Amino acid sequence: MGFSSELSVLLLLFLTGLLVSMVDSTTTTSPACRLINEEDGHDIPDGDHKGYNKLKPLVGKRFSCIDVKKEYKYSVGICRDAVDGYENVGVLQEGLIDKKIHKIGFYNATQIMSGNDWVMVEYWHGEEYHNHCNNEQRKAIIIIICDPSADDESGVDILEEAREKKGDCYYLFEISHKAVCGIKSSSKALSFGSIVLIIFASVIALYLFLGFLYQRFVLQAKGMEQIPNYSFWQDFGNLQADGCNLVCRSMSSRNSAPYKGIGDEQLEEDLDRERDDHLLPM
Ligand SMILES: *[C@@H]1O[C@H](CO)[C@@H](O)[C@H](O)[C@H]1NC(C)=O
Repeated sequence: MGFSSELSVLLLLFLTGLLVSMVDSTTTTSPACRLINEEDGHDIPDGDHKGYNKLKPLVGKRFSCIDVKKEYKYSVGICRDAVDGYENVGVLQEGLIDKKIHKIGFYNATQIMSGNDWVMVEYWHGEEYHNHCNNEQRKAIIIIICDPSADDESGVDILEEAREKKGDCYYLFEISHKAVCGIKSSSKALSFGSIVLIIFASVIALYLFLGFLYQRFVLQAKGMEQIPNYSFWQDFGNLQADGCNLVCRSMSSRNSAPYKGIGDEQLEEDLDRERDDHLLPM
């Protein structure tokens, strides 16, 4: 009876686990970029692509903007259709005047590069130019840079449409977002000096604590006597004071001489010095 109920609980756990992992896998695979210039162009695998991992928080998001001349509207999707109904189109351009629509780049032809606080995404194989750029395919470059104060609301900017060239043209976009901010290098690792200091401080703390326990409970010490090696530290303090006295005050007896009044005292001192001279070792 007990055994079979345990078994059914286990079965239930197993089934819910399966269900959760199925739901999980469907959500992670639906919006996804596909890499080009790889063996056979594949979905970017989870976990092992540095740039894609950095981009992850933004995958599935959409941004849009209008250029300065108010000629075009640009829609940008991060590994997602920029506009519903345009399959695999990562960046779509809509003419505000001529109402023409151009597919600038496809996210099933993506390249991703990244650094500490930026990610660069390229969508390739867009529509061909007619009179520009050697009739090559359009291409979108989206640079996402770290801005700790920027979130999804900050949007995208079109920086440049470089098409007056013989080739290698591109549409350049910029998104500021906190999701791509890296770890600051200063907090990355403790310096050697601070590690040494921490070790030193812990050793002293341990020494004081264990010493205190020993003095109090083994030697039954009371008051200041509970401080470990109390007499040694007392002597040590005195020694330090002596040392300091020697170093700091060695000149003082000679320096104080000019302040003495001139008169009998000085004569006496000279006499004293003469008298003492033959006491000095040769
Ligand atoms: C990307 O998707 C488009 C539209 O669905 C398709 O025409 C094209 O062949 C795909 N490209 C690659 C490299 O899979």
